[in-house]
Amino acid sequence: MSSLLVDNIGELVTNGAGEGPLGIRRNAAVLVEEGRVVWVGPSAYAPAADRRLDAGGAAVLPGFVDSHAHLVFAGDRAAEFAARMAGQPYTGGGIRTTVGATRAATDNELRATVRRLRGEALRQGTTTMEIKSGYGLTVADEARSLRIAAESSTETTFLGAHVVPAEYADRPDDYVSLVCGPMLAAATPYAKWVDVFCERGAFDVDHARAILACGQAAGLGVRIHANQLGPGAGVRLGVELDAASVDHCTHLSDADVDALAGTAHSDGSGTRTVATLLPGAEFSTRSPYPDARRLLDAGVTVALATDCNPGSSYTSSMPFCVALAVREMRMTPAEAVWAATAGGARALRRDDIGVLIPGARADLVVLDAPSYLHLAYRPGVPLIRQVMRNGVTP
Ligand code: NIG
Ligand code: FE
Repeated sequence: MSSLLVDNIGELVTNGAGEGPLGIRRNAAVLVEEGRVVWVGPSAYAPAADRRLDAGGAAVLPGFVDSHAHLVFAGDRAAEFAARMAGQPYTGGGIRTTVGATRAATDNELRATVRRLRGEALRQGTTTMEIKSGYGLTVADEARSLRIAAESSTETTFLGAHVVPAEYADRPDDYVSLVCGPMLAAATPYAKWVDVFCERGAFDVDHARAILACGQAAGLGVRIHANQLGPGAGVRLGVELDAASVDHCTHLSDADVDALAGTAHSDGSGTRTVATLLPGAEFSTRSPYPDARRLLDAGVTVALATDCNPGSSYTSSMPFCVALAVREMRMTPAEAVWAATAGGARALRRDDIGVLIPGARADLVVLDAPSYLHLAYRPGVPLIRQVMRNGVTP
């Protein structure tokens, strides 16, 4: 069994025991065996190992956990972006444009896009990436989207309920039946999660409830896109169904925040549902950012993710999202880094990632910087010097 010592770490973010909310250790080392962290401690007391990686005094943190991305699509919507920057609002209507291009693409074209974006994200420090379907919207196209997604991630999400496709525009109930019936059956072998875009222009709360309940009954975990473009009952539905995450959370009432914070439970216990914020979407749609401060101050668990997709957020960069969250959403750098690592892991109900503690996966990044603070302090700069996943450099 070969061991690797990552040594001479100036600042180690563990998200476990250590200084402050990030569990920081200084002058630290991490011992890795068989893809797992087996020891964390001071460099001076590090055990012997077969190989050594010298971090040169740099910062090391858990690999980013991007818990929300739409990578299986064809074409792009650069012209739609340009129109938005000239004043057009974002409505989600462009999703159907991508559906048309995705249906027309070959498996290999879709596979190439997923691999390109997954590679892009990896080079920016993302060691776990959730991948959704949702641009196929036929039984065959949703199944192949998930089959291709599953080649690149174990965190795959069935989003047959992204929008009602044009051919079902005047009979949305029939589309919901299709999603809950043959489409779910074809998707389930390749999916871990079920998701619904619960929003005006997409699915209302009754349809969302029906679809999420079917997915749950088929053994999938629940997540939901909610309260992105306007207020609604989607966030509360997510909490009620014990969703792992409600994503976007841009337009929230006090009742939504209370539900997320768990104060709505009569026994006072907290909810397990995470609020995943996607600042790349507000950036790229020129919309007001979610109020992260209000959620954090209420005790809600917050994650950050990219929402990488060709319409509302065509970025694969978690460092960019961290910088946006700090500058635009009043998160502290420590809160943002926690949300992009341990927060993402909570949003996927995983305890083996997002932390660097004994037993965790050896998924980590070495920064070209002495501190995690530089991720927000030096926006747009490629600070990821090295990425390790399962103890190896991919
Ligand atoms: O998360 N909200 C719905 N889905 C995506 C947007 C998809 C698109 O515009 O193509 C989102 O923002
Ligand atoms: Fe999304």
